[in-house]
Amino acid sequence: MPIFVISLGGSVVTSDPLDIMFIKRFSAMIGNAGKGNKFCIVIGGGKLARSYINALREAGVNDNILDEIGINATRMNALSVAPFLGDCNTKIPTTINEAAEMTRIYRCVIMGGTEPGHTTDTVAALLAERVGAKVIINGTSVDGVYERDPRKYSDAKKLKALGYDEAVSMAVVGSLGAGPNVFMDVTSLNIARRSKIRIVVIDGRDVEQYEKVINGMDHSGTTIS
Ligand code: UTP
Repeated sequence: MPIFVISLGGSVVTSDPLDIMFIKRFSAMIGNAGKGNKFCIVIGGGKLARSYINALREAGVNDNILDEIGINATRMNALSVAPFLGDCNTKIPTTINEAAEMTRIYRCVIMGGTEPGHTTDTVAALLAERVGAKVIINGTSVDGVYERDPRKYSDAKKLKALGYDEAVSMAVVGSLGAGPNVFMDVTSLNIARRSKIRIVVIDGRDVEQYEKVINGMDHSGTTIS
């Protein structure tokens, strides 16, 4: 049975505090996405994580605790979306093992982070590797991968496709310096590369794009393979 892993950026589901309209549209799309498909959804921390982390960092709290704060925010977001997803867990797994076991029970498994030191993109890549998913859909706040940061350069061109090596190089460069801003973290790209899992980066708020990727149709995002 085909299994899709979706890394859903926290900023896509959180507004002040949650974008319930989007969550309903996203959940309806998953519900209609073919009874033969299974889904693993890994949700980021969004505004909730960022506001707590920024305030505590300024107060001198160490990075390990900040990561734990971030993980708790991702789990709160996961539990907030779970009730809308129908055949889905409402106990949020804390490990890849636990999540993988849940895929035997539910059509859709939702989770947040696991342990300090990475982001939910890496959790999504590890889970995809574990359950044998061929595709990770990365629903983010930008609509694909650009040759340079589109928020800084208005003439930046979106890439239709790129290779793993190029994606890793871009992520390494993007993660240097203050305020790293990369489309996916380097570890997640390395995991996808070693297991040849295709990554499709799309505008996380555009529900139609998920449907297109799931149905193998042309989409407006970027494919990394
Ligand atoms: P995110 O996955 O949302 O991080 O987790 P991000 O990519 O930096 O955020 P967006 O997508 O741009 O909004 C939030 C934070 O939680 C911690 C990290 O500190 C991360 O920045 N985290 C998350 C972990 O330490 N481990 C995990 O497995 C997941």
